[in-house]
Amino acid sequence: MRIAALADLHFSPQSYDRIRDVMTRLRDEADLLILAGDLTNLGKTEEMESMLASLMRIRIPIVAVLGNHDYEGGKQEELSKMMTTEGVKVLDGSGYEREGIGFAGTKGFLGGFGRGVLTAFGEPEVKAFVQSSLDETLKLERALSMLRTEKRVVITHYAPVVDTVRGEPEQIFPYLGSGRLAEVIDRHQAIFAVHGHAHHGALEGKTTGGIPVYNVAMPLLMARTPPAPYRLFDV
Ligand SMILES: [Fe+2]
Ligand SMILES: [Fe+2]
Repeated sequence: MRIAALADLHFSPQSYDRIRDVMTRLRDEADLLILAGDLTNLGKTEEMESMLASLMRIRIPIVAVLGNHDYEGGKQEELSKMMTTEGVKVLDGSGYEREGIGFAGTKGFLGGFGRGVLTAFGEPEVKAFVQSSLDETLKLERALSMLRTEKRVVITHYAPVVDTVRGEPEQIFPYLGSGRLAEVIDRHQAIFAVHGHAHHGALEGKTTGGIPVYNVAMPLLMARTPPAPYRLFDV
């Protein structure tokens, strides 16, 4: 199976033409498309509506997670429903299997990496924040446990490793992802993980357990030479 992956389309009606061209090319190149969050720019239903209009032309299975921008308008459930109605598999702590490949996805959360991981200590606000990070980790764990396939691919919006956020200002690393996600990826021996969110990060990294992690944020992919709006994987 040839999988195409991208994230951070930040779709607005103004970007319709650009995205439509990308989608037309993609149809001939891939068997399945992964969208790793920030599909809309401000989480508006109009943005999702026009994005779906251009997406549906590709007629290949689409597996997606939402990103923080999709939450911005407080309409994340409505956006999910719109996608599901069009046949997109929206993963939120859930899995999807196709042709022997399992996909486990969740949005993920921020919180830092390695020794910089924020812990639940002190004020209730800090504990609530850390709990959100732990909840997303547990959702990924649940999604992976549900898959019966030998090959499993992980999809998050936030980064699971620090490697793929390098390139961004170091001060904001803790807001770009959570190392807790990588522990789950290692435990379940995924074949690889994809994420977005760090628009100016690095293309590739690895978990401590050696599992490849790919940042498929579209602005990052487009900054390559030659620019390519998505990344292809043969599994
Ligand atoms: Fe983004
Ligand atoms: Fe994001």
